[in-house]
Amino acid sequence: MERRAFVSEKELEYQRECAERVRAVHAGETAWVDTYGCQQNEADSERMRGMLRDMGYILVSDEHADVVVINSCAVREHAEQRVFGNIGHMTHTKKENPNMKIILAGCMAGEETVREKVRRSYRHVDALLDTTSFWRLPETLLRLYEDGGRIIEDGEPDSRIAEELPVVRTSPYKAHVSIMYGCNNFCSYCIVPYVRGRERSRLPEDVIREVRELAESGCHDIMLLGQNVNSYSGGGKSFAELLAACAELEGDFVLRFMTSHPKDCSRELIDVIASHPKVERHIHLPVQSGSDEILRRMNRRYTAEHYISLIDYAREKIPGVIFTSDIIIGFPDESEEDFERTLDLVRRVRYDSLFTFIYSKRSGTPAAEMPDPVTHAEKVERFRRLNALQDSITLEDRAPLVGRTMRVHIDGESRTGELNLTARTQDGRLVSLKGSTELIGGWHTVKVTGVSTFSLSAELA
Ligand code: 5AD
Ligand code: SF4
Repeated sequence: MERRAFVSEKELEYQRECAERVRAVHAGETAWVDTYGCQQNEADSERMRGMLRDMGYILVSDEHADVVVINSCAVREHAEQRVFGNIGHMTHTKKENPNMKIILAGCMAGEETVREKVRRSYRHVDALLDTTSFWRLPETLLRLYEDGGRIIEDGEPDSRIAEELPVVRTSPYKAHVSIMYGCNNFCSYCIVPYVRGRERSRLPEDVIREVRELAESGCHDIMLLGQNVNSYSGGGKSFAELLAACAELEGDFVLRFMTSHPKDCSRELIDVIASHPKVERHIHLPVQSGSDEILRRMNRRYTAEHYISLIDYAREKIPGVIFTSDIIIGFPDESEEDFERTLDLVRRVRYDSLFTFIYSKRSGTPAAEMPDPVTHAEKVERFRRLNALQDSITLEDRAPLVGRTMRVHIDGESRTGELNLTARTQDGRLVSLKGSTELIGGWHTVKVTGVSTFSLSAELA
């Protein structure tokens, strides 16, 4: 990996200078980073909070803050509508506080159509900052304060890596570590490659150092993140090698990773999971569809048979491994037969749980041009059938867990119900239990008392 792929030290130094200048005038004002979408956005938000803290802002969760950064998601239209709805409301907030700065960051900021819409109709948004340039947050704020006006720039995503950004972590026990950025796969339905730029990997030494520091600070749950972690290639290392190196570090933590792409998921990786107890016995392996014809039109570059062979290999090598997946229902012209292939695959794999989505047309992607005679009502009906099937599988396969003891990490308090604590099993399942809040932040042994499609309930053993 050449250093050319990185934002230079000089450019980062300039951002720190801008941060100092903002701080001199605005220290003590408030800032809110509101996050939508995936873990990658959560990770980016933690860095933006780090930069805002260094500029002297007090971090709050309040739309009346002096700076509001909306870290948006563009993967489905529904997510975009929600963001636009919330930005719409902020016209009033800004009237009350005209000095307020509103920045639309994240995936939506990388979309041509969004830029146009914001230029024309959302005039109270001061700046757009896409996912490849959020490290310019200090410079952006300084320009807004000093020059006035709005910053909405067109252009391609930057596709470089900014190391050593400050960070405010949401939890001392759980952390996301980005190992790579962007995506080169161009699945035909997906907007991510257009807004997050070309795939680029961090250097293994940088990732390993970050994981080591987290482990030393007492972090118990570390998630390695990338749009397609299996194609990681930093400093000549494969993802399997990087994962093994991280899993060999000292500390009482579990190592998770997402997302894996079936076309690049190697047997070597499965062997690393099998031989490293710190790596969770869970693979999130999005299949998207069980029909080879749909997979071909999705540009996924594997067949259902190849996918099943990976599952079988992993089950053989990693006893008790669980799988989760993403499935899109109603891809353009998906026939009843294609859909049945998906149901067959779900019955064959028996996922622990699924993330299911109804196809959402994203302008600029190849799938948006494909004819789609299937009605929305039909798609909703398939969506319901798929979820009903998965719910029955989840409940059947979890039922034998009742009465078993397992090690869980207690993460925090639950907002609802009498089981007041939330925890996670080593393989990533959600657990609810009753107990003292003093247990938060530690590993504990619990006995499972019940199962649902959403979580396990348990009591301290
Ligand atoms: N419509 C519906 N679901 C989508 N996903 C990505 N793009 C779309 C789209 N246009 C889903 C995929 C992916 C997950 C993160 O979001 O299943 O794995
Ligand atoms: Fe989108 Fe496919 Fe890349 Fe995942 S692998 S981010 S679905 S293009």
